[in-house]
Amino acid sequence: MARTRHHRDKKQQLGQFLTPPEIAVRILGGHTLRPCDRVLEPGFGAGAFLLPLIDTFMMLRSNDLSAVLNENIWGIEVDDELFEGTLAQIARRWGPLPEHHNLVRGDFLLQDYPNGEWRELNGAGRLGQDGWFDLIVGNPPFGGTVSIEHQNRLEAAYGRRGGLKIKKETYSFFIVKSLDLLRTGGRLEFICSDTFLTIPTMKGLRKALMDEGTSEVIRLDEFSPETSYPMVVLRFAKDGPSDSVKVEHRTASRASINATANLSWRAGGALDPYFMGPTLGEVMVASSGMTTGKNEYFVRDIVNGELQEPYAFTFVEDPVSVERELARARLNQLSKKQLAKFAQMEQNGATRRNVRVTPREEPLRVALPHPDYRYYNKAQTGLFYAPPRYAIYWRDKGDAVLTFKQNGRWYLHGVGGGPFFEREGITWSLVASRLKMRYLPEGYILDSGSPCAFLRDGVPRDELWFILGWTLTEKATEILKNVLNHTMNIQSKDFERMPYPFWVSEGRRHDAIALVRETVTAAMNGLLDNREDQILADLECLYMLDTSAVGKARATCGAAGK
Ligand SMILES: C[S@@+](CC[C@H](N)C(=O)[O-])C[C@H]1O[C@@H](n2cnc3c(N)ncnc32)[C@H](O)[C@@H]1O
Repeated sequence: MARTRHHRDKKQQLGQFLTPPEIAVRILGGHTLRPCDRVLEPGFGAGAFLLPLIDTFMMLRSNDLSAVLNENIWGIEVDDELFEGTLAQIARRWGPLPEHHNLVRGDFLLQDYPNGEWRELNGAGRLGQDGWFDLIVGNPPFGGTVSIEHQNRLEAAYGRRGGLKIKKETYSFFIVKSLDLLRTGGRLEFICSDTFLTIPTMKGLRKALMDEGTSEVIRLDEFSPETSYPMVVLRFAKDGPSDSVKVEHRTASRASINATANLSWRAGGALDPYFMGPTLGEVMVASSGMTTGKNEYFVRDIVNGELQEPYAFTFVEDPVSVERELARARLNQLSKKQLAKFAQMEQNGATRRNVRVTPREEPLRVALPHPDYRYYNKAQTGLFYAPPRYAIYWRDKGDAVLTFKQNGRWYLHGVGGGPFFEREGITWSLVASRLKMRYLPEGYILDSGSPCAFLRDGVPRDELWFILGWTLTEKATEILKNVLNHTMNIQSKDFERMPYPFWVSEGRRHDAIALVRETVTAAMNGLLDNREDQILADLECLYMLDTSAVGKARATCGAAGK
């Protein structure tokens, strides 16, 4: 059991989803290699690409293994077992390895090239000279974490490109470092998760690729039984800034990509016209909610307008100790200054206010509404409106919950969505294949599983109904899931980046507002009576794209240089 767990942890930690050899061979088949080419496979694992590459170069270099491994092929692998196994395989196939070669056991992100120790890169995190490799191929570790002790210097080297942040994880840092290492005109071919086409956290990576060369993305229909993530192949040539990207045989212009706030590589199709106007973020501000750290203590189900409270809450003073502070801290680490501060506090007998949660002998029955409780907006089923199903203990503005969070681990200290608590808005489920939009009346405390959006100051209230109606359409979900973020999560930023339905005429807008307002009112009074499907179909028509409005927007955008 322990071994299996360790095995799984290592596999995930290092993103070890090895490429089936036949797929690697197929990918390599698209490249014509010359005897002078320098090729790198970072994170070569069991050698899916490395072994066929050696095969090809052996033919080009008259079976001179030493020449091939010193002049043509570079590889690095962090995992001892995989490293040894692959070197043993090379020795079995082509004889003993030469004394010197370019196959290194180590961390790619820390390795300097052609071969050497890490050397601090200049301010922009770039090598001063042109890159070294003609071709870089492989399958970068997906979802792996960047080594903790080197985080700062790796972030300085690879954490930003073109003014945008590059997500701190192996997969994006591997790609950025590889871009640096390619010589001008060089090519890169990597297997990637298809999430990188739209996911907002990879916006910086998409921009870096467009700034540095030409990209093409091809779907990999079958990958490996080891992972169910849909995979793609990224083909890149380092030939200077590009004005388009080709994704699965469709070309998206840089202008259409730029029109989507997340620089989506799924732009460039029939959905482009929707992005010719403003975004929902110009009218509404969206926010995620908080996590209590332990819902069992504070969150109750509502049944027939009542809840059962099994706990009593009291406040105490707990002694401050360095040990406790370390246990709460990020990566269980504190700076020297903080350590000294807490040591001093411990010595002085300082205390921190905390909450004790003790079971009652008998649960207390509480009828709602009640001044000590607020409705709690967790994800739940229902479109348009859903009656409150949860309540949270919120006496004295949530003192018990907030004190509990403050005493918990570092990531609990913030209160997500705090400024929006108890405001009227609209809400949806964070994890969903469709926008499951509902009206959120005033008075709710917000949970992280159900992000919300609120009208910006000065925006008329009718916009709430207008946008609720739009986001309930299939078209809105299609845009969100195809262009903006095709993972299962629907974050607050995704909502803000949705197109505002600028194409809807005044008459239709009026009808849509009336329909949504009436539907929500009926739903709140339990009078919707199975009419939901028909109303959704009506909304689909009311928000249908009007091409003349798009034409006007295009003319305005053109004039404004958007
Ligand atoms: C997705 S696997 C791909 C392996 C191989 N390239 C293939 O296509 O089968 C990623 C590989 O990168 C290795 N790896 C992960 N982090 C690394 C790092 N920082 N430096 C070097 N190798 C790393 C893993 O151990 C794993 O073998």
